[in-house]
Amino acid sequence: MNNAPGPNIEGFHDPVTGTVSYVVYDRVGGQAAIIDPVLDYAANAGRTGSRSVQRLADCLAANKLTLAWILETHTHADHLSAAAWLRDRLGGLVGIGQHIGAVQQLFARRFNLGDSFPADGRQFDRLFADGDTFRIGELEAEVMFVPGHTPADVAYRIGDAVFVGDTLFMPDVGTARCDFPGGDAGTLFDSIQRLFALPPQTRLFMCHDYAPAGRTPSWTSTVAEQRAANVHIGGGTARDAFVALRQQRDATLDVPALMLPAIQVNIRAGALPEPEANGTRYLKIPLDPQ
Ligand SMILES: [Fe+2]
Repeated sequence: MNNAPGPNIEGFHDPVTGTVSYVVYDRVGGQAAIIDPVLDYAANAGRTGSRSVQRLADCLAANKLTLAWILETHTHADHLSAAAWLRDRLGGLVGIGQHIGAVQQLFARRFNLGDSFPADGRQFDRLFADGDTFRIGELEAEVMFVPGHTPADVAYRIGDAVFVGDTLFMPDVGTARCDFPGGDAGTLFDSIQRLFALPPQTRLFMCHDYAPAGRTPSWTSTVAEQRAANVHIGGGTARDAFVALRQQRDATLDVPALMLPAIQVNIRAGALPEPEANGTRYLKIPLDPQ
């Protein structure tokens, strides 16, 4: 990776969900990856929209980029993925961590999807294992398995930049919740130690920013900054202390507003459910789930 050029990176913050999507490319006229694209969703009307993802498509067009990859860091519970929207229009391969099947199995049961839903990751084009490498044109990318928020999270290391998904948030916000099915605070601690072991000046790109009052949304930090100042895990926080803090905090958090629609779409690699006989697509809402 030493002689590889540095990545060009543009971040796009979605103010509705706090998600940051990225376009990463080697050069103007070259190849690009899009990380964690958002499909807009108005829950009150059951209406999807492309305002957020269109910004990414416009960035590709402005820089004459070919979309090689659409990369998910995990199965998001806060927004619908625009991976299928992008693949249908611009091509590219959709990649996610290889343990996605575990997440699909959990939610296939919860949504009673039956045998018609294969819970083995086949909806995605590429299932990444820890340490896998792939190319984005002239850039080399490496996959890091960083579970804890879910059992299948990955981060993408591209040059001196790492797209950390839902592990770390900005230092003044902390870390991702670990109370979703298959999540585990101790596992997240261990994953974050792997990120902390990277060179101190490594640039870290967040998947979300929920900017505290008084500052504008931001999404870039470094290993050194996070190690020193992250409010949940910086300053040499011990594993036990982190787990206690994380569990205490998770007990106060509500179910994400878009969790039920988002999961159903995201375990299908961003594809919407097939239309019924009347041409309309439907999502399911489990009532009083056990
Ligand atoms: Fe997440």
